[in-house]
Amino acid sequence: MAPRKKQAPEAQPDNSALAPVAGDEDKRLDLTLRPKTLDDYIGQDDHRENLRVFVTAARKRMAPLDHVLISGPPGLGKTTLALILANELGVQAHTTSGPAIEHKGALAGMLTKLETRDLLFIDEIHRLTPIVEENLYPAMEDYKIDLVTGDGPHATTIPLNLNPFTLVGATTRTGLLTGPLQSRFGIILRLDFYSAENLARIVRRSARLLGTGLDDEAALELARRARGTPRIANRLLRRAWDFAVVAGLDAIDMPVAKLALDRMGVDKAGLDELDRRLLKVLIEFYNGGPVGIETLAAATAEPRDTLEDVVEPFLLREGLLARTPRGRVATHRAYEHLGLEAPRNAVGGQGNLF
Ligand code: ADE
Repeated sequence: MAPRKKQAPEAQPDNSALAPVAGDEDKRLDLTLRPKTLDDYIGQDDHRENLRVFVTAARKRMAPLDHVLISGPPGLGKTTLALILANELGVQAHTTSGPAIEHKGALAGMLTKLETRDLLFIDEIHRLTPIVEENLYPAMEDYKIDLVTGDGPHATTIPLNLNPFTLVGATTRTGLLTGPLQSRFGIILRLDFYSAENLARIVRRSARLLGTGLDDEAALELARRARGTPRIANRLLRRAWDFAVVAGLDAIDMPVAKLALDRMGVDKAGLDELDRRLLKVLIEFYNGGPVGIETLAAATAEPRDTLEDVVEPFLLREGLLARTPRGRVATHRAYEHLGLEAPRNAVGGQGNLF
């Protein structure tokens, strides 16, 4: 068993809600709550247990772990898993993102800094420029890159050997990656939304680390309304904690959890304001669809990427939205959820055979 490193911080002696809050307090707390080992990581059981084997094998061989691609909607723990891998491998993690690597020189600078078996984490790896991506191929395959010095006719290419390393790439959807890039990853993990039970375990662990009490039924309520997403569950927990502190409670109980959730506009199914806005636009402006994604983006005034990466995956999973070749459609369930009468032929209704 790996040693458990984390200790719960002391409960704050003064829980005054009016105390000034440092910069981005939520981000700081997020870092505190992040699990550091596979033992502490809750959920995604199959991936976790497979990774345990791959990490142990790599350590025994004293070889770098094969390159890993992690995909899934935001907030499911892609960065967390990458950092856990580095920790479990006993190597340094270097983190960057696709858009931050502006040219191949920046990539070379990063790769040449890596020590043997280090882990390079590239978030939003689907946003690499084609030239940077092409330069990444030989680095991934043979731990080699070509450095170019000088300009025009004086340009010379210097082949350079890199230390063997592990690339961990994260993307919201594997479909956004080019075939050649995807094929260079030996381990591909598709993260799935979390069950309410696992999210309840996560918020109970977080409450312990934050130093607040949390009733079991309140934990399950926060979990049920967190869109299957740990980052959202932890955010709901922190806001419920705020309400509990202001009410002078030591523990978040069911009434305070419900109050916080209602005040934050999170409904019984865990849908937030943007989820409901998308469904309403679809139903009220476009008769339930089908509607193209660009039209929906314009009508909701949200970027297309936000709708596709953040909003839609959960609505699709909950059966509130369906995708057809002609566009998105609101399902019978979506009408029901919004308290509207569904047309007889709505997808998933009695009158629709499909
Ligand atoms: N905090 C956020 N995600 C977590 C996870 N998967 N397990 C434990 N704690 C978490």
